[in-house]
Amino acid sequence: MVPIKGLQRTMVKTMEKAHKVPTFGYADEIVMDGLVELRAALKQTAADRGVRLSYMPFIMKAASHALHEYPVLNSHVDDECTVVTHKASHNIALAMDTPSGLLVPNIKDVQAKSVFEIAQELNELQALGSEGRLGAEHLKGGTFTLSNIGVIGGTYMGPILVVPQVMIGALGGVKKMPRYNEQDELVPKMIMEVSWSADHRVLDGVTVAKFSNLWKSYIETPQKLLLDLR
Ligand code: COA
Repeated sequence: MVPIKGLQRTMVKTMEKAHKVPTFGYADEIVMDGLVELRAALKQTAADRGVRLSYMPFIMKAASHALHEYPVLNSHVDDECTVVTHKASHNIALAMDTPSGLLVPNIKDVQAKSVFEIAQELNELQALGSEGRLGAEHLKGGTFTLSNIGVIGGTYMGPILVVPQVMIGALGGVKKMPRYNEQDELVPKMIMEVSWSADHRVLDGVTVAKFSNLWKSYIETPQKLLLDLR
C-alpha cells in the first residue's frame, strides 16, 4: 500500500473540486512556421544574454494579448459560482513536470513583461522546479493556465481546470505535417494542436473560439506581438 499524502493529497483535493465544474472543450491547430523561424532567429541572442528561449514565452505573451480582449477568461469564480472576478494581472501558470511531481507555478504580470523577461523567469522557475525549490510564492495566484505536454509527446489532451480559474489550454507537439496552400498544393507545415477546457458556467463556446482565434493569430504571425507591445 502506498499512502497518498503531501503534494499528491493536495492534488486529490484540487482535482475533486475541479471535477464539480461543468467544462467544455475546444480545439484547433496552429501553424507554427512563423514562430519556429522567429525563435530560431532569436535563440542565440537570448543565449548570449544567458537565457534559453523556447516557444513558451511567445505563446504566453500571445495569451496575455488575447486576454486583454477577453478578460473574462482571466478570472476566478467562487465555490458557489455566485461571483466571477476578472483579474487585472495576467498570472499565467504553467504545468511543470518536476521531481516532486506535477506543479503549476505562474509567471506574474505577463502583460507587463517582455518576451525576454518571460523567458528569463521561465528558466528560473524550471531551475527551481528541478531542484524541488518551488514555493508558495511561485504556486499561488495563477489566473490562466497552459500545459505544454507536447514537449513529451501527444497531439490532443483533455486538460482539467485549476480551480478557481476558468480556462486551461494544453499544447501538443510541434510536428511537420502536409497542408494545402492557397494554390491547392500540398506543402510541409509545422503544426501544433491546442486543446482548451473552459468553465461552462461562466464561459460560452463563441467567446472561447474568438479568444483562441486571436491568440492563434499572434502565434501564426508573431510580428503582430510587436504591434501591441507596451
Ligand atoms: N513540441 C515540440 N517541441 C517543443 C514543444 C512542443 N510543444 N515545446 C517545447 N519544445 C522544444 C523547446 O523549444 C526546446 O527546444 P530546444 O532544445 O531546441 O531549445 C525543447 O523542446 C525543450 O523545451 P522546454 O524547456 O522543456 O520547453 P518549454 O519552455 O516550452 O516548457 C515546461 C517548459 C515547464 C512546460 C516543460 O519543461 C514541462 O515540464 N512540460 C511538461 C508539462 C506537463 O507535465 N504537463 C502535464 C499536464 S497533466
